[in-house]
Amino acid sequence: MKKIFFILAVFCSINSFAQKFDTLALTPPMGWNSWNTFQTNISEKLVMETADMMVSSGMKDAGYIYLVLDDGWMAMERDDKGNLVPDPKKFPHGMKAVADYVHSKGLKFGLYNCAGTKTCAGYPGTRGYEYQDARFYASVEIDYLKFDWCNTDGINAKEAYTTMSKGLKVAGRPIIFSLCEWGNNKPWEWATNVGQLWRTTGDINNIFDGIKTYGTWHANGVMTIVDLNAGLRKYAGPGHWNDPDMLEVGNGMKESEDRTHFSIWCMMAAPLIAGNDIRKMSKETNSILTNKNIIAIDQDELGVQGFRYSDKDSLQIWCKPLRNGEWAVCFLNRGATAQNISFDWKNNVMADTAFKEMLNASSTTYKIRNVWTDKPSGTTDVPLKSVIEPHDVLVLKLGK
Ligand code: GLA
Repeated sequence: MKKIFFILAVFCSINSFAQKFDTLALTPPMGWNSWNTFQTNISEKLVMETADMMVSSGMKDAGYIYLVLDDGWMAMERDDKGNLVPDPKKFPHGMKAVADYVHSKGLKFGLYNCAGTKTCAGYPGTRGYEYQDARFYASVEIDYLKFDWCNTDGINAKEAYTTMSKGLKVAGRPIIFSLCEWGNNKPWEWATNVGQLWRTTGDINNIFDGIKTYGTWHANGVMTIVDLNAGLRKYAGPGHWNDPDMLEVGNGMKESEDRTHFSIWCMMAAPLIAGNDIRKMSKETNSILTNKNIIAIDQDELGVQGFRYSDKDSLQIWCKPLRNGEWAVCFLNRGATAQNISFDWKNNVMADTAFKEMLNASSTTYKIRNVWTDKPSGTTDVPLKSVIEPHDVLVLKLGK
C-alpha cells in the first residue's frame, strides 16, 4: 500500500512539475528590461525605483509584470566554488534581496546571462555551468532568464539552449526562458519546447527605419525588424513567441513613431518589454505604453501573430485574428508624407490561410472601434475613408 502511495505521489509531483512549465507565457510576456536605456549602469537602487514606478505609473495594472536586469549585474569573476556573484557595489544586499523587493510589489523578477564563455559585456558566461547557474537562479527566486549568444565560437545553439532549459527544469522553479541568439540559428524551428520566446533579429535601435552602424556591428530600426519578423508568424503561439526585441518607446523617436512601433508589436503578438527609463517617462510615453485597447490585441488569447495583408506605396495593412471571431486591422503609413486611404471592406476578403481564419465583410457586418481613440467608427458596410500621417497608424478593432 505504502508503495502505491509513494508511486502516486511521485507521479503527481512530476505531473505538477511539468504543468508549472507548460503554463508559462500563454500570452506574450510583458515587462521592463534595463538594457536599452542603462546598458551595464544598473543597481539595486535602479531596480527599486523602477519597481515602484511600474506600480505607480499604471504599468503593472496594464500587464507589465517582469522586471528584468540585463547584462552587467555580475561581478567579473565567479566565486571559488564556481557560483555566480552579483556585483557587490551595484547590489550590496545580494540578488535575493532585490528579488524579494520586486516580489513585494506584486511583480516578477528576471536576470540575464549568456550561452558563451562570457556575456556580451564581458561578465562570466554560463558555458559549462548550466545546472549550477540554474540552481543559483532558483535560489534567488527569479522568474525570467534572458540567455544571450556572445562568445559562443564552436558551440551548437540548439544543444546549448536545450541544456540550459533542462537545467532550469531540474532546478524546479518555473522561470520563463528567453532565447536571445538573434535568429542566427533559426530557433523558431527547434525552440518551441526549449523556451517561451526567441529573438528573431539583431538588436533594435531608436530609429524608425533602416540600420545604424556602430563599428563592427549594427542595430536595426523598428521597420527593419518588422520586415525580418513578419514571415515567421506560423511559428508563434501560446507559450512560444517570436521576439522582435525590446521596445524603444520613449527613447527618442517621435510620438507617432512610438505609437506605430507599439501598435505593430501588438499586431505581431510580440513580447512587450519596455526599454525606457520609466522613472522619467513623459505623459505621452506612459499613455502609449499603458493603452489597454492595443495591449488587449497583443495579449489576445488566440495567440496569433498578425499578418501583412497588403503593401503598396508605403501603405501597409496588417490583420490579426482575435478570439470570438473579432479582428484587429492596422493601416500603417511607412512613408514620409500623409496618405489618403479609401478601403472597401466588402471587396477585401482577408484570409489567414496559416491559422484558418477569415475576415469577410461581404458576408458579415462588423462593428468598428478605433483602438487609440477608443471611439466607435461605423461598420464595415461603409468603405473606410481616412488620412494617415507619416509614420503613423490607424488601428481598428472589428467585432460582430
Ligand atoms: C546583446 C543582446 C542585447 C543585450 C546585450 C547585452 O546585444 O542582443 O539585447 O542583452 O547583448 O550585452
